[in-house]
Amino acid sequence: MRIGLFVLLVAAAISIAAASSIPAGELPHDPLEHDSLHHKHFDGDQHNQQYDHEAFLGADEAKKFDELTPEESKRRLGVIVDRIDEDKDGFITLAELKNWIKFTQRRYIDEDVGRVWRKHNPENNETVSWETYRKTVYGFMDVLDKEELEQEENGVSYKSMLARDRRRWAVADLDLDDELTREEFTAFLHPEEHPSMRDLVLQETTDDLDKDKDGKISVDEYIGDMYRPSEANEEEPEWVLAEREAFTKHRDLDGDGYLTETEIRQWIVPNDFDHAESEAKHLIFEADVDHDEQLTKDEVLDKYDVFVGSQATDFGEALARHDEF
Ligand SMILES: *[C@@H]1O[C@H](CO)[C@@H](O)[C@H](O)[C@H]1NC(C)=O
Repeated sequence: MRIGLFVLLVAAAISIAAASSIPAGELPHDPLEHDSLHHKHFDGDQHNQQYDHEAFLGADEAKKFDELTPEESKRRLGVIVDRIDEDKDGFITLAELKNWIKFTQRRYIDEDVGRVWRKHNPENNETVSWETYRKTVYGFMDVLDKEELEQEENGVSYKSMLARDRRRWAVADLDLDDELTREEFTAFLHPEEHPSMRDLVLQETTDDLDKDKDGKISVDEYIGDMYRPSEANEEEPEWVLAEREAFTKHRDLDGDGYLTETEIRQWIVPNDFDHAESEAKHLIFEADVDHDEQLTKDEVLDKYDVFVGSQATDFGEALARHDEF
């Protein structure tokens, strides 16, 4: 899964930082994160519950729900169901659920961008310049030597992080003044949601996966992004074999053994894919016990773990953690 790569790279970034005792707060926003939601969900063929929670609640809210008892998260879910049911007829339709998912996604992106924007632009100027941004995020690089800058961990170095951010900044900067407005900054931070950033997302994904730099993705590069054996001759789990088959059947459309640009595009940023609709259908499918293609409040609450649930295995512990603050 792309998220796997992302976690790996952030871990790499943090460990590089630790080694050079750079305060974690000075690290860039996640410069390597650009997983389209579509991508996260459908890779690995594994049902990813956390993904469903984030689509339904938004990532921030999903985290808050993780800390609640089952009773409290059910109660709040009931309140949300009433809100989703726009015409108050007691049924949640596909359209209503789709609207809700779009709303939570917009809200999340808006809050996320707001946080980072305030950090880089406390006076709330109209724009932020590249130089200001670079100094805050990558300023520590000014005192490093060439070797430190180019030292790679999992194929990522400070230099490559900076280069990626620089390129992304330039693409987001529609009026070419090298400064970003808040709207342009949104495209910079969340390129996967912006049509004008599609080619860049495609490029970044290819760069990440294409380890031998031949411009196309082999089945092993494709698998290597989501799975690495912990031992040399470990047998591949079932889901990896299923992914290999999916590569051949659904991704490598011309059957030449590689994903080339068109095929990568069709996979990562397909023109016809509506993430909110697909997620809404999936949630209805999971909870629609009487198969009438809409949901009652009881159907949602009966399947509350599909919608909100909790990742915490020990509520007592989660609550205790919460009480510290
Ligand atoms: C905002 O504008 C002021 C006045 O032009 C300037 O001094 C300041 O550096 C700017 N802040 C940022 C983050 O660019």
